[in-house]
Amino acid sequence: MKVLVVGGGGREHALIYKIAQSPLVEKIYCAPGNPGIAELAECVHIGAEEIETLRDFAKAEQIDLTVVGPEVPLTMGIVDLFQAAGLEIFGPNRVAAQIEGSKGFSKDLMARYNIPTAAYRSFTEHAAAVAYIKEQGAPIVVKADGLAAGKGVIVAMDEAQAIAAVDDIMLDKVFGSAGASVVIEEFMEGEEASFFAFTDGRNILPLASSQDHKRVNDNDEGPNTGGMGAYSPAPVVTAELHDEIVATVVKPTIDGMAADGCPYSGILYVGLMIKNGKPRVVEYNARFGDPEAQPLLMRMKSDIVPVLQACARGELQQDAIEWYDKSAVCVVLASGGYPAAFVKGLPISGLAAAAEIEDLMVFHAGTALKDGQIVNNGGRVLGVTGLGDSVQAAIDKAYAGVAQIDWPQVHFRKDIGARALNR
Ligand code: AMP
Ligand code: GLY
Repeated sequence: MKVLVVGGGGREHALIYKIAQSPLVEKIYCAPGNPGIAELAECVHIGAEEIETLRDFAKAEQIDLTVVGPEVPLTMGIVDLFQAAGLEIFGPNRVAAQIEGSKGFSKDLMARYNIPTAAYRSFTEHAAAVAYIKEQGAPIVVKADGLAAGKGVIVAMDEAQAIAAVDDIMLDKVFGSAGASVVIEEFMEGEEASFFAFTDGRNILPLASSQDHKRVNDNDEGPNTGGMGAYSPAPVVTAELHDEIVATVVKPTIDGMAADGCPYSGILYVGLMIKNGKPRVVEYNARFGDPEAQPLLMRMKSDIVPVLQACARGELQQDAIEWYDKSAVCVVLASGGYPAAFVKGLPISGLAAAAEIEDLMVFHAGTALKDGQIVNNGGRVLGVTGLGDSVQAAIDKAYAGVAQIDWPQVHFRKDIGARALNR
């Protein structure tokens, strides 16, 4: 069969690495892809958000299955468009993707179905939002309602910072229309974990646990990023907690969406805060996590393609995924300056040496080819992912890969996975 993957980051490289292992697959296309992906798939020059052009391409090439990586095409309705053209596609439709696309939508869903999360209120008026912050006090969390590329959440440690965030979002409109409404919610303490489940809208197939490292610097300092590294499994998610997450969060979410007339199919990403062994939802995403996909997919033993097809067809029957009994750790190499401004176009050395290392994959995210040389072309550039028999072995493997690779001002965290070791 022919598969099209939409997107061009580390997550899509990892998806293609895994899809390429399936005996069912003859040919993989990726739109737009990147130089790392180009080693496994044919990259086509169509942007991930050009959803009509993508549909026309899929139709013309007789693509058997399309897999969508990022959230924006999902919230634009790529799934609705493909389905209307009779094309099979993995991911939630436009209405269901609001679970990520609108914080108000997801908070209301959680309230309706008693899914544990932070207390909150939504506001469309600035004065009312400020009054609520003064009444509640700090710490408190301010979120722009719509998609803001992971930057629309401000965890305010004092009232002034919270009010400044509301001013930025509602008066200065720094996130544009994504800030027409704000959600203000209770600050939750605890340890974060990412939980993923495949679903066809009714049946649920949970993945192994994983954890992201959101802050840019070691010891979780500095601003939030898209993710500086990840590992799987995450020891904070015990077998007991796994079952509790499925029962109290994932199942009521999927059942609730179906009961509300907008069944959710694809992969559901639940960001959780764990405190005293109890999970509460921080947010939902309508897609695979990046970089969590990198370690998870390296650990996955089962063929992913039948699972993606079954979700897309509403025929998910499989009740377990097989995993390699190994740990995986992904260290993100970022451009110096990220998540703020950075210089692009710097040549990257050492990729060939890293490729020689066994049980190591260097997933490309923000790279480009310039005059025959791979250069940095984004904030997060590479996801160096190692497998090992223990967390320590996986950490050592990933950092052995990192040691080979260099470019001017490369930045990475030196403590990825350390939290798993401390348990
Ligand atoms: P989100 O985009 O909703 O995932 O938020 C980004 C990050 O902000 C999360 O990964 C958390 O680290 C933090 N965050 C969001 N909501 C809360 C909350 N209610 N309490 C504490 N931290 C939060
Ligand atoms: N790792 C965070 C995200 O994918 O949103």
